[in-house]
Amino acid sequence: MIEITNLHKSFGDSQVLRGVDLTVHQGESLTVIGGSGSGKSVLLKHIIGLLFPDMGQVSIDGKVVNRLDEAGLNEIRKKFGMLFQGAALFDSLTVWENVGFALAQHTKLSAKEIRELATQKLALVGLKGIEDKMPADLSGGMKKRVGLARAIAMDPAIILYDEPTTGLDPISADAINDLIVDLRKKLGGTSVSITHDMQSAYKISDRIAMLYKGQIQETGTPDEIKGTSNPIVRQFITGSAVGPITAE
Ligand SMILES: Nc1ncnc2c1ncn2[C@@H]1O[C@H](COP(=O)(O)OP(=O)(O)O)[C@@H](O)[C@H]1O
Ligand SMILES: [Mg+2]
Repeated sequence: MIEITNLHKSFGDSQVLRGVDLTVHQGESLTVIGGSGSGKSVLLKHIIGLLFPDMGQVSIDGKVVNRLDEAGLNEIRKKFGMLFQGAALFDSLTVWENVGFALAQHTKLSAKEIRELATQKLALVGLKGIEDKMPADLSGGMKKRVGLARAIAMDPAIILYDEPTTGLDPISADAINDLIVDLRKKLGGTSVSITHDMQSAYKISDRIAMLYKGQIQETGTPDEIKGTSNPIVRQFITGSAVGPITAE
């Protein structure tokens, strides 16, 4: 469904992606792990066509993202829902307006219909009766849930999660993991997540891929990754200061 081939991306002198190869199959939940600044968000932005590669390509259902015109890109983007790092809600909009934002932009539904759909999506993420609240009135965990309700508003075929648990306390983080698993059971679909939270990666993934030095070092099921003999992956998943990876 998503095929990433030899993807290269630099910003100035810094080579962030140096030949990423990765395939995400229909219906699977794949998580990319890696340290801060390793290029996880940059990779995700290439999948959704917010960044374009210097070399290599991303194709979605056989269509090469970096060869599409603006209309083609808009078509592709409709397949995706994205939970941004830090939820990225619009502070001046209410909760239901945030959730319904894409519906207001891309459909002809009335405000009343959008509000009803927003209420349904909020119920799916376990939130009731907060439609008229402002983002500033919500806890971190609730903001993530609202961000998630917004990500699924258009019934996307693919959901992208950028650090879904980062910045949350361990209990709220685990509740978000459970919610991601639960949504997948209810809605199906394919998802790509990025995280440096291994507990989250183990819980939500069918497969895990580790990004380091601009390339995918290893890909495997959670059990395969737990049992890896690759010293880079081993050091990362055990969070050790000793090994081939040096702290920044
Ligand atoms: N639009 C951009 N312009 C310049 N540098 C960028 C841009 N986006 C990301 N970078 C750089 O690319 C590197 C990887 O960033 P990112 O993908 O956000 O890391 P992470 O793995 O933490 O998500 C960082 O050094 C970051 O500063
Ligand atoms: Mg990031």
